Amino acid sequence: MIKKAVIPAAGLGTRFLPVTKAQPKEMLPIIDTPTIQYVVQECVDSGIEDILIISGKGKRSIEDHFDKNYELESRLQEKEDEALYTQLRHIESMANIHFIRQKELNGLGDAIYHARFHCEHEPFAVLLGDTIVDSVIPVTQQLIDSYEQYGHTVIAVETVPPENVSRYGIVGGENLSNKVVRLNQLIEKPSVKQAPSNLAIAGRYILTPEIFRALEKTPRGKGNEIQLTDALQLLLKQEGIIATIIEGKRYDIGNKLDFLKTTVEFALKRKEFAADFEQFLRETIESIDRPS
Ligand code: UTP
Repeated sequence: MIKKAVIPAAGLGTRFLPVTKAQPKEMLPIIDTPTIQYVVQECVDSGIEDILIISGKGKRSIEDHFDKNYELESRLQEKEDEALYTQLRHIESMANIHFIRQKELNGLGDAIYHARFHCEHEPFAVLLGDTIVDSVIPVTQQLIDSYEQYGHTVIAVETVPPENVSRYGIVGGENLSNKVVRLNQLIEKPSVKQAPSNLAIAGRYILTPEIFRALEKTPRGKGNEIQLTDALQLLLKQEGIIATIIEGKRYDIGNKLDFLKTTVEFALKRKEFAADFEQFLRETIESIDRPS
């Protein structure tokens, strides 16, 4: 049973400046819901209600979002807006959320290391706070199923076009089934030639507490940061690691183009304005002057 999840959300979001100068990228809305709420919902849908968010400077609005807002709630009650009132009550009670601050931004590995006192005795899920996966079975649930079958650390991976492997952490190994690979290699941003496959790490993990020992031994890597992929490489020398090819579509909100695509795709799935929005898109594509 995986009962805990860690959501790293302390990063600077430099790829999305200037909007991330004074607000967390994890709070960027997909239509009307902050990215991180989708991530918390994925935990809840996977049976996890104990969530540790790795927060940091300028991230207070994440805490406020999951807190109670008495004033807003009583105003909605006065207006008898039952639907919105219920939505707000759901957000504040959807999970048991804890926060810890990463004071210096030393990378994703260091962010995870901040969870050591919270998760030292049991395996836990990790979900990047700027990544949403749209899927029928929540992707964390897919990883939990693999963990229960194999009893090893599990990394979510997805197939990417071979020419794009140099943008991702790439895994290589032996196929155990058409969606599970036993790893023998993990390489951060390899060249096309170096890449053992086109399976890219997809922002979701099930980690065991052994990761904390590995992180202690991990030297600073790319960007002078403690990289989770480097710690996983060390761990791979001691124990098995499984990669599960996820069923679903991943959106990296920290990247402007992906953010736009996510917004459009999610809007086209929203009953209340899907038809109008689709018509608007078609008309706009016909008529717009493109930048030269
Ligand atoms: P990213 O590498 O995408 O986040 O980390 P970043 O550093 O904010 O991105 P850019 O490159 O500057 O735009 C993935 C997740 O890990 C968190 C981020 O908040 C994001 O949700 N993270 C990253 C931390 O919590 N701490 C870190 O030191 C780095």
